[in-house]
Amino acid sequence: MSKKEDSSRPSSEISADISKMRRSYGEAGLGELHADPFAFFRSWLTAAHENPLVVEANAMVLSTVDSSGQPWSRSVLLKGLSEGQSPAFQFYSNYGSAKAEQLAHEPRASLLFPWYPLERQVIITGTVTQVSREESAAYFHSRPWTSQIGAWASAQSTVLDSPDTLQEKWREMSERYPTEVPLPDHWGGFALTASTIEFWQGRHSRLHDRARYARVNNSSNEWEITRLYP
Ligand SMILES: Cc1cc2nc3c(=O)[nH]c(=O)nc-3n(C[C@H](O)[C@H](O)[C@H](O)COP(=O)(O)O)c2cc1C
Repeated sequence: MSKKEDSSRPSSEISADISKMRRSYGEAGLGELHADPFAFFRSWLTAAHENPLVVEANAMVLSTVDSSGQPWSRSVLLKGLSEGQSPAFQFYSNYGSAKAEQLAHEPRASLLFPWYPLERQVIITGTVTQVSREESAAYFHSRPWTSQIGAWASAQSTVLDSPDTLQEKWREMSERYPTEVPLPDHWGGFALTASTIEFWQGRHSRLHDRARYARVNNSSNEWEITRLYP
């Protein structure tokens, strides 16, 4: 549809269409709940990754809060899941970005995996810390050269006067680091140590199945499991 046709459509007609957008979900619920939320999460991530309808199964929505209390959300990619005493969800970004500034002020954050084709959602809350430089370097150097140059070229979340400026910075960095690219000081990993992990499975007649795992205390990997009204 052309831009002209689109803007000529009355907005009331578009709203009516929106209110009718719904689909009914399947029969299956969560089934028997795993005692270990990470084993549960891994099985769902694998199912999402293997489902051709899910693009970027490891994409998740990270929500943070700024110093005025305003929440902000954006997608990032899950790049690691560390298990053990303090299991954590890892992602990588620019340490000068808006999200990094918000996390420095308020390290509590949430992650949301929207696996709509599977009628599933996982929401995680917890506290975010930076991963070690060694770990960031190992991941940074595993990335394609183009992505490594991109990390040097982008002053993420700051004002860009024109796309040409970014292109020019990219070219400059690609000439500076034609082969080996050092890890920038302004780039690295974050790890969200989970306090709660909630699994949601859509079901017919809005009989969705929802279970929350809450960490009993910070020094243990014990979880209290409750089912919640959907
Ligand atoms: C599917 C998808 C994956 C993304 N993955 C990342 C990522 O792993 N790290 C990142 O810094 N930005 C990623 N982005 C871009 C972010 O959503 C966001 O625009 C950027 O990090 C700046 O966010 P901020 O200004 O709130 O800090 C991704 C965007 C999309 C749509």
